[in-house]
Amino acid sequence: MSIRLGSIAPDFTQESTHGTIRFHEWIGGSWAVLFSHPKDFTPVCTTELGVVAKLKPEFDKRNVKVIAVSVDDVKSHQGWVGDIEETQKTKMNFPILGDADRKVAGLYDMIHPDASDTLTVRSVFIIDPNKKVRATITYPASTGRHFDEILRVIDSLQLTDAHSVATPANWQQGGDCVIVPSLQDPELLKQKFPKGYTALRPYLRMTPQPDK
Ligand code: BEZ
Repeated sequence: MSIRLGSIAPDFTQESTHGTIRFHEWIGGSWAVLFSHPKDFTPVCTTELGVVAKLKPEFDKRNVKVIAVSVDDVKSHQGWVGDIEETQKTKMNFPILGDADRKVAGLYDMIHPDASDTLTVRSVFIIDPNKKVRATITYPASTGRHFDEILRVIDSLQLTDAHSVATPANWQQGGDCVIVPSLQDPELLKQKFPKGYTALRPYLRMTPQPDK
């Protein structure tokens, strides 16, 4: 089953390095990032998990829980965690699901048979507190993810949920935003964007980031 934006993230119960995870219950009122890696004791995955552990305070600041998954079992993950901590100079501070029965991989369509029959690709699912899938990203096994980009997408989702804006190409925190084309009422525009805006075209109106 492929997962579409806006659909409810499939719920599951699975073992992890932090004990049994009932996914929706575990998410609670937070956002969540569920990301898969192909295999334990592999170089790119080792660096990715180290980077996410170091970025955990940034995810916490945004009320986001992170959780990794691969088709190796929890015992294998536990053996690997020591290597991650030693080589990446960090403490593993989030759970890794042991998905040897491929329950999660199947629910989230993380195995792409033309890439590998057995290994999960590098999938990312960003899930909101209503358990809706808000963004999905898929990378091949050979390309490590840029987790600053994942934080940037979360920033954009949280900003655009709260204000009538969208974020333009290469937007970063503090950068100008675009006003959504559906907002045309001059009174509402004044009220929502007291710092004003520049209309480059009737459909392309730039405004300073509203929450800064
Ligand atoms: C890695 O994480 O290094 C990796 C995993 C599977 C295939 C290629 C690289």
